[in-house]
Amino acid sequence: MSEQTRPDLKRLFIETYGCQMNVYDSERMRDVLSPLGYAITERPDDADLVILNTCHIREKATEKVYSEVGRLRAHKERRVAEGKGMTIAIAGCVAQAEGEEIIRRAPAVDLVVGPQAYHKLPELIARAARKTGERLAADFTAQEKFDALPARAPDGVTAFLSIQEGCDKFCTFCVVPYTRGAEFSRPLADVLSEAQSLVDRGVREITLLGQNVNAYHGSGGSGFADLLRRLAGIDGVERLRYMTSHPVEMDDELIALHGEEPKLMPYLHLPVQSGSDRILKAMNRKHDGAFYRDIIARLRKVRPDIALSTDFIVGFPGETDKEFEATMQMVRDVTFASAFSFKYSPRPGTPAASMMAQVAEEAMSERLQRLQALLFEQQRSFNESQIGRVLPVLVTGDGRRPGQKHGRSPYLQSVHFDDTRADNGDIVEVRIDHATQNSISGARHEMATA
Ligand code: 5AD
Ligand code: SF4
Repeated sequence: MSEQTRPDLKRLFIETYGCQMNVYDSERMRDVLSPLGYAITERPDDADLVILNTCHIREKATEKVYSEVGRLRAHKERRVAEGKGMTIAIAGCVAQAEGEEIIRRAPAVDLVVGPQAYHKLPELIARAARKTGERLAADFTAQEKFDALPARAPDGVTAFLSIQEGCDKFCTFCVVPYTRGAEFSRPLADVLSEAQSLVDRGVREITLLGQNVNAYHGSGGSGFADLLRRLAGIDGVERLRYMTSHPVEMDDELIALHGEEPKLMPYLHLPVQSGSDRILKAMNRKHDGAFYRDIIARLRKVRPDIALSTDFIVGFPGETDKEFEATMQMVRDVTFASAFSFKYSPRPGTPAASMMAQVAEEAMSERLQRLQALLFEQQRSFNESQIGRVLPVLVTGDGRRPGQKHGRSPYLQSVHFDDTRADNGDIVEVRIDHATQNSISGARHEMATA
């Protein structure tokens, strides 16, 4: 019987906002609900259960949730009139931070579930369906959640693996230490066995996730570099990546590993936020610009082709034109293969939100535009620098047209290439002959496959 015609099948729509951590969590929520007969639908209007997995990092991200609930309400009312109903659940960091507020502001929402309580979803949904009107708090520890979630069912050759959650760094602009709580690392053995099970199901590239992933400290005192080495030792793990890192946790051992371990891909996302020392201090980033530049220089020494990515905030309270110019100079000095940049957004409860001298909107917009123009130019020229090279590409699927495949370069670039032979999961050599700002393309190299 096809999935569509099974009468016991329920439809689940999950919308994911924000970071990769949420992407990972959404997959786990899907897995925990699948034994209950929930199958993914692409259409929210058609769903028995809608989960919005939310992000609280900037105001815009938070507001999106409320406008989406507004849209869902109409679908829900129609379904209720048809005698079918729809359960609406808010998960993620907005749920954690604004649980009460959501219930008050959005009566269409049936349940609110924070990031540490996803393993309780089946029970919560059953209760909501009985219309007890209960709300659910996220007062479970991260380890309880990891233990209770079922084995993963990855659906591709690349996968995320969450190894660490939370943050103790308390950057003055950031809500994460409040929403995701204190730093917590999963035990080494659990991470290794999850990696093994991913590989057994066909995964070739694993991206380790955590809010401060390189602050990982496993049981028995094993550090992050040690974990990476052990993962690289698993047969079938072909490629490793990690995000998001904090510069102060880039220790000597980890930097050296980038030169020693071929499975560790030559790409690193290392947020710097600003190029101005005064702003970095006000942000409580715990390092200055010279420290960041030094890490980059050391990484490039051991791995000359390493591609770098970062995050910037423009318009942090009190940022002057001159301080913004220091950020522009940092970009020119380091050169990034890609980057994310944001206007500062005051977040409730964070120290920066109550700082004097918030920067005017127009100044922020102008700075963001200038910064992004420079970053995009660097991204394009990084992609163009691959033209003429032969890159090992992990095949992830079919391309846009017949005779074409899609894959991922060591530098996390999206690659389209002409080929008919390769299977998903193969690593093949591709000669690059074209580049745009967002991707590169070429053809399978005649000579050899990796
Ligand atoms: N305003 C703007 N950007 C922010 N980020 C975190 N908090 C804020 C905020 N209040 C950005 C940082 C971080 C990324 C995930 O989001 O650059 O690295
Ligand atoms: Fe937020 Fe700073 Fe922690 Fe990153 S290190 S999650 S920016 S507090």
